[in-house]
Amino acid sequence: MRRKIVVGNWKMNNTIAESIELATEIAEKAGSDGVTCEVGIAPAFPALYEVGKVIEWSGVKLAAQNCHYENDGAFTGEVSTRMLAAAGCNYVIIGHSERRQLFGETNATVNLKVKKALAEGLRVILCVGETLDERERGVTGEIVTAQVVEGLADVSDISNLVIAYEPVWAIGTGKTATKEQAQEVHAMIRARVAKLYDQKTADHLRIQYGGSVKPSNAVELFAMPDIDGGLIGGASLKADDFMAIVEAAG
Ligand code: 13P
Repeated sequence: MRRKIVVGNWKMNNTIAESIELATEIAEKAGSDGVTCEVGIAPAFPALYEVGKVIEWSGVKLAAQNCHYENDGAFTGEVSTRMLAAAGCNYVIIGHSERRQLFGETNATVNLKVKKALAEGLRVILCVGETLDERERGVTGEIVTAQVVEGLADVSDISNLVIAYEPVWAIGTGKTATKEQAQEVHAMIRARVAKLYDQKTADHLRIQYGGSVKPSNAVELFAMPDIDGGLIGGASLKADDFMAIVEAAG
């Protein structure tokens, strides 16, 4: 049985004070409500350390939204995995479609980051997903497969890695993939991971769905056999909505 995982990706939202307030509310609910799934939140960099301190007691995991693949040096504006680990992060999100589309990340740079983060002892959420144009051209399978295969190149152990399937056309648009559309891609990812590693590794791998997940659609998405939770954007900025999604995951 895979334990479901629901992570709130706060993106570029919330000051330190706002982050602490939201994180405190989430920690109180997640820490006391008989929640069985794994819960995480990914605040912006400036708030990570302080948020880590207020959620520590609750079991809610701290995630960063990005990292660099070098330890330190002349990389203005970047943050290393060593810094994230020291700030208390458990997870780092790598290869989010906004990073790929707006900041030029490629499967090759994503792969460098994945290897670095795992070597640092961080858990990784590796994001994959096709654009609307790619879906309409019928190349979803090819695109997502390349993101998985190239993102995991030379990664021998994925026990500390989660994959998030986030169709780009469903992110922030209100258009959720249907549960069947999402399930189809999740099953394909799992089959590919079985080929790359082995069946046991694939069976243990958690694959989250992301893209306009809301309290109203979370239950049906999370009921699909290969959907092991969600990576939540907009709805993770309100504690009540986020916790309703967490409860949908069990
Ligand atoms: P929305 O839930 O706002 O569509 O964002 C999804 C996402 O990008 C999470 O990483």
